[in-house]
Amino acid sequence: MRTTLLDIRKMKAAGRRIAMLTAYDYPSARLADRAGAPLLLVGDSLGMVVHGHDTTLPVTLDDMTRHAAAVVRGAERALVIADLPFLTYATPDDAVTAARRLMQEAGVQAVKLEGGAHIAPTVRHLTQFGVPVMAHLGFTPQSQHTLGVRVQAKEAGCAKRLIEDALALEAAGAFAVVLELVPADLATEVSARLRVPTIGIGAGAGCDGQVQVWHDLLGLFETSPRHARRYAEIGAAIEQALSAYVDDVQEGRFPTASQSSRMDPDELARALA
Ligand code: KIV
Repeated sequence: MRTTLLDIRKMKAAGRRIAMLTAYDYPSARLADRAGAPLLLVGDSLGMVVHGHDTTLPVTLDDMTRHAAAVVRGAERALVIADLPFLTYATPDDAVTAARRLMQEAGVQAVKLEGGAHIAPTVRHLTQFGVPVMAHLGFTPQSQHTLGVRVQAKEAGCAKRLIEDALALEAAGAFAVVLELVPADLATEVSARLRVPTIGIGAGAGCDGQVQVWHDLLGLFETSPRHARRYAEIGAAIEQALSAYVDDVQEGRFPTASQSSRMDPDELARALA
């Protein structure tokens, strides 16, 4: 059975922490689903970790739709959420168009969008038409040129605004709120004030759940952000495996008879006659 919004609510009510992670394609979704993650995010971070851009801004709705469809095919039980990319939800009507593609073409169960109280009307518009919305506050990568990549809301005024934003988004119908790069004590306070779960990334242990980027958790790149724990060194393992393959080909050790097939010598003789 696939995770539902009600399950997520119940997890918060029961004090059960929610583990979410990103997935960008069929194999990553399959593995994350089998690992038991109840929520998978097709993040627009794919622009950086999959496509090699410096920011999430170049990611298009076509990119998101293609990746999200592959994730949906790989996820049997997790609820799949996809980011609405940069400037695709500047108006409520735009947001409906973008959400329609992600839900109808890709088959995701929910969308995520970045921003505070100013997008509450958009969240209300979407949720009224049956689109489950996850909100995203604190450091919002689509605004990184305005915000800078750093911990947000450290001053009283900004912290107060973040709490108000979270309450406004909950009131507008958001089913969860991502808190990215927010002081842990503030995130704990926001989590206590909301009925819907908070999902933290670089926001401390007081959130109702955590989200991490696939590549950061698995050590695909040489470095990971400070808020990530590297659970494996898959990048180094892949590099080692690939260089063993390259060496084997160069030295004639691959393929061997067990990776090859033979034909009947008579057939070969006839073919060469
Ligand atoms: O795009 C993404 O991966 C995200 C998470 C970091 C929350 O928005």
